Amino acid sequence: MTNTTETSVSPFDELVTDLRVHRTMYTDPQIFVTEMNRVYGGTWTYLAHESEIPEPNDFVRRKLGLRPIIVTRDRNGEIHGLINRCTHRGATVCRTDSGNARSFMCPYHNWTFNNTGKLTGVPMHKGYGASFNRDELGLGRLRVDSYRGFIFGTLNQEISDLATHLGSVTDYIDQWLDRWPGAELVVRHGETRLNCKGNWKLIYDNSADGYHPGFSHASLLRMRKERYGVGVDMQWALGDTDAGKQTVTDLGNGNTFLDQRAEIDSYWDSAAPMPGQNPYANAVRAKLDDAAAKAALDVVVGSGMNLNIFPNLLIIGNQIQVIEPLAVADTDIVWYSTSLRAPDLPDEINSLRVRLQEDFPAFGEPDDLANFEECQVGLGIEEMEWVVTNRHIDTDTETLDANGNLTGLITDELPIRAFWRYWKKLMTSDTKLVAR
Ligand code: FES
Ligand SMILES: [Fe+2]
Repeated sequence: MTNTTETSVSPFDELVTDLRVHRTMYTDPQIFVTEMNRVYGGTWTYLAHESEIPEPNDFVRRKLGLRPIIVTRDRNGEIHGLINRCTHRGATVCRTDSGNARSFMCPYHNWTFNNTGKLTGVPMHKGYGASFNRDELGLGRLRVDSYRGFIFGTLNQEISDLATHLGSVTDYIDQWLDRWPGAELVVRHGETRLNCKGNWKLIYDNSADGYHPGFSHASLLRMRKERYGVGVDMQWALGDTDAGKQTVTDLGNGNTFLDQRAEIDSYWDSAAPMPGQNPYANAVRAKLDDAAAKAALDVVVGSGMNLNIFPNLLIIGNQIQVIEPLAVADTDIVWYSTSLRAPDLPDEINSLRVRLQEDFPAFGEPDDLANFEECQVGLGIEEMEWVVTNRHIDTDTETLDANGNLTGLITDELPIRAFWRYWKKLMTSDTKLVAR
């Protein structure tokens, strides 16, 4: 990284522009450390879904950047984001991924904290003398807020409330959730954890990259076309997609949207094949009238939406994908399948949803992972400094949508430019980040 020059207000002004990005943004370990602190701590970052901790005293272990976090639901139902770090000497106090616990006892010297973070037990506490104040030694607490079950946390005490921060993202979350009106989303079916020896931003870059599918996933799409016929599974990604009806949109604060819906005539008819498809579909048709069965089968299938919520939540199809950075060139991508709970929705729909949600992580994501890892290899070359992010920046194809958000053709790289603008803002912000 070059140093700040006298005329530059930010060290990133030259390294990150709308036209190009310097390779070190993806390879510099110091940048990565700053990102984990400033980017992941300084904005609303996705932690978990409320349905993962449905009962009082349920918890899941998550991360905010590299900070270990416990997301808890206390006995009164309130949700907390606790920093999983003992206030005695720093050990993590919770070492299991999920469970039900009223308190967490640090294995090192057995200090005990309840699930709201309060320090409740210190062995032989008299050894600390009369001035010892337990109230000052609770676990660090994140500011947490939820939107329709999605729990976010931050260490930025000044950022606006979550719904305001998300802005028009909330419209798309609503559209995604309300595909079956009245249904409750359930995120509790295990996870598919994939690892990639690439920088975490390559994954975010890709999530609204409508340029790549017809090329990166060509073998999958062509195989589906040959075996199952025209129209099955994302074949609208083949050919000159700029002539098609898909779009990408900048939703502000680094959040972006890729919309395939205008290309989809029938979700069910264009679904990738799934094991048990016909018996399940027939069971649904036996339970519901024709129109309701069609509507129900449509919600089996991916929503046609990629909604990318900065910096780590990718709502893709019917799944939730979470980016978990581990090191500058080491990232876990975690896919959570989802089901819907509604009295008028047959169980077979959820069986099919889970089957279909096994499809892309197995057949499509390996294409992407291979490219992310190969990008990381190429980005390591010092003499080749830049990547370009200016596709469709000056082709006069961008417009403002009804919400005033910048929208472009599907292969426009405007989502990548939108990401970097907010990234730069967070990386150079002097807002003090604090645990409460
Ligand atoms: S480090 Fe946790 S009790 Fe000592
Ligand atoms: Fe892809």
